[in-house]
Amino acid sequence: MPMILAANANAQGSHVGEWRHPTAWEKPAANLENAVRLAQIAEAGKMDMLFLADGNGVRNLDKPDLFAATSPSDRPGIFEPVTLLSALSMVTQHVGLVATATTTYDEPFSVARRFASLDQLSKGRAGWNLVTTSNPGDALNFSHDEHVARADRYERAGEFAAIVKGLWDSWADDAFPQDKATGQFLDPRKVHALNHKGKHFQVAGPLNAPRPPQGHPLIFSAGQSEAGRELSASTADCVFAIEGTIENAQKLYADLKGRMAKYGRQPDEMKILAGTTIVVGETEAEADRILQELEDLVPIPVGLDYLSKMVGTKMSEFPLDEPMPALDSEHVGPTAIGKSIIAMARAKGLTVRETYKSVLPQMAGNIFKGDPVQVADRLEAWYRGKACDGFMVAAPVVPTGMECFTKLVIPILQERGLFRREYEGRTLRENLGLARPENRFFLGAK
Ligand SMILES: Cc1cc2nc3c(=O)[nH]c(=O)nc-3n(C[C@H](O)[C@H](O)[C@H](O)COP(=O)(O)O)c2cc1C
Repeated sequence: MPMILAANANAQGSHVGEWRHPTAWEKPAANLENAVRLAQIAEAGKMDMLFLADGNGVRNLDKPDLFAATSPSDRPGIFEPVTLLSALSMVTQHVGLVATATTTYDEPFSVARRFASLDQLSKGRAGWNLVTTSNPGDALNFSHDEHVARADRYERAGEFAAIVKGLWDSWADDAFPQDKATGQFLDPRKVHALNHKGKHFQVAGPLNAPRPPQGHPLIFSAGQSEAGRELSASTADCVFAIEGTIENAQKLYADLKGRMAKYGRQPDEMKILAGTTIVVGETEAEADRILQELEDLVPIPVGLDYLSKMVGTKMSEFPLDEPMPALDSEHVGPTAIGKSIIAMARAKGLTVRETYKSVLPQMAGNIFKGDPVQVADRLEAWYRGKACDGFMVAAPVVPTGMECFTKLVIPILQERGLFRREYEGRTLRENLGLARPENRFFLGAK
């Protein structure tokens, strides 16, 4: 099975200074032409999928410096991701289309319906990134006073995912003969109403959409807590994992795959993608220069605000040039990402200033920087070392960073037999080597 390469398709790259860089998109807010171009770059590179992280709340209104300068993940001016991917499905043929939707503030029927539609529009290339929502502020847009507690979020997520899958199985694959001669549009024996009544949801079904081409669109998950890991092991086809070192990634990989047997699943039925920002130049010096140029575009207050957001603690209260403090875990932000940043900074003995600089371009301390061979070597080491089955590639600047990755690094991976030269299948599942799930209500039916 070749390495899996997903393209982080956010309109802005992974660096806070990104949008100001001379080679970055002009006017990246809600820009369809840019998104089309990025999709075409990923597809020309034979990458497996485009991946859109998402959230519903605009973040950082309380951090004026960062808010005005905007950070890539604060999402003040973006498209709703399934809507955007629906448009991109019309201008691409092979690349997978994965969007985020939350189980905490959405409804299972709506999510099942949106992703069934995207799977139809794209002829089997849709994926749902199931999140329980990292940003507490999202709650305020959905009639809540505060974020739902983690344990409840995960309990709800488990029930939510089971309903979505059940709804995708509402119809047998051949339920719609649409036969003008006999007058039979659909076969009433081939529909199953879910009639779900659970702790969090009540959903009668059936879904008002035929069974998706992939049976079930791919399910991604991303949480790394105990509950998050169990949800992945039981439910996910792919995991977006963030670890700062190969050793930690190997531990997470073994842990996640090791949990699958109790759910009757084989380790190969779930693919783990390591989040990685790739800074590549023709030479190592060029890669260093790109990063330096980006760093120069971030004033200190913006950098500090960004670190504060990542670790959930106001970092301007600590001396800039002294070692990163051992923040106690209660103060560490809402996700596993904050913990991993602090661990990385302390392991490397970084100061606060050095920590924010190292966090700016990357996700949780994980950056592969260098010339094309150096980057390919790192990717190969992680892949062969069972730290991951592939990568969620973020570029520091888009589109140039993704273009450089596809033109400089992917050919080396292909040369080494690590990555495809042509798409193997028609659907995202086929390209990832994942089986099409049988319809549980119509077992044995086509
Ligand atoms: C790599 C990664 C990517 C994530 N992407 C998103 C996202 O796009 N939108 C979102 O609302 N939450 C996102 N989350 C948050 C998770 O869904 C989850 O709520 C959070 O990580 C807390 O759960 P945990 O403690 O199990 O990690 C992401 C988490 C991780 C680790």
